[in-house]
Amino acid sequence: MRFKDKVAIVTGAASGMGLLCAENLVSEGAKVALTDVNRDAVEAAGARLRGDGGDAIAVAVDVREYGQVQNAADATLNAYGRIDLLLNFAGGAEGRMRNCPAPFHEMPIEVIDWGLDVNLKGAVYFSRAVLGTMIRQRSGVIITLGSVTGTEGGGPGAVNYSAAKSGLIGLTKSLACCGAPYGVRACCVSPGPVLTRPAMAMMATRLGRAAQPQEVVDLILYLCSDKAAFITGTNYLIDGGRSCGGF
Ligand SMILES: NC(=O)c1ccc[n+]([C@@H]2O[C@H](COP(=O)([O-])OP(=O)(O)OC[C@H]3O[C@@H](n4cnc5c(N)ncnc54)[C@H](O)[C@@H]3O)[C@@H](O)[C@H]2O)c1
Repeated sequence: MRFKDKVAIVTGAASGMGLLCAENLVSEGAKVALTDVNRDAVEAAGARLRGDGGDAIAVAVDVREYGQVQNAADATLNAYGRIDLLLNFAGGAEGRMRNCPAPFHEMPIEVIDWGLDVNLKGAVYFSRAVLGTMIRQRSGVIITLGSVTGTEGGGPGAVNYSAAKSGLIGLTKSLACCGAPYGVRACCVSPGPVLTRPAMAMMATRLGRAAQPQEVVDLILYLCSDKAAFITGTNYLIDGGRSCGGF
């Protein structure tokens, strides 16, 4: 019960690692606000966690819309009175998520904007919406999902994804600087391939496999915990040695 009575906001919590992390947090005693643009899925996830005896609310949020982001932060404060953890999971490569196979130089601007807005601006917006509360509390942790693509570059369908994921490292360092005087920490976690989709098994790593989602979530939960009290402003690659290169 590392997170007993801690209050967490998880973005991208309708599926994949965001949902798994929300489940882990609830099972370790946290009160969790699950947020996602997929209203039906996030509400179903919240209801399931409550049905299992957990403490959770669900809020439909498009991270590209600041008003919706602020509403989610306000709803969390109304429900639970504080915000201890922000976990920015919402994201994905624009080519895949928008079903757009065009190379970068032919990509519609709407798809370009999606890649930057969801992956970068969403985390900026949520961080902005919670940081004042964390500063007033004089405690809090913000974890943002980068990607190995943010350090090695992306293919034709992930140019903006890569740019955004690089930007999240700068965001994390800046949040760490802003938060440190008040006991607020920020870290970026940058996975290589993770088996939230079977196709990720195709991406090469030195260890010859993709990560199980739980392996990434375990690192995130450690960084959220008091055991990581001296860690802030850093980017953690968890990529099976992919960034050693040579592929
Ligand atoms: N799976 C991997 O191999 C991998 C590797 C590196 C980094 N990541 C990163 O980890 C995070 C989670 O990935 P995943 O594999 O669990 O993905 P996923 O697709 O299962 O989950 C992403 C969630 O984000 C939500 N989302 C999309 N657009 C949104 C918006 N505008 N507003 C709010 N929510 C929105 C989706 O509905 C979905 O529930 C992402 O940021 C991803 O870039 C994943």
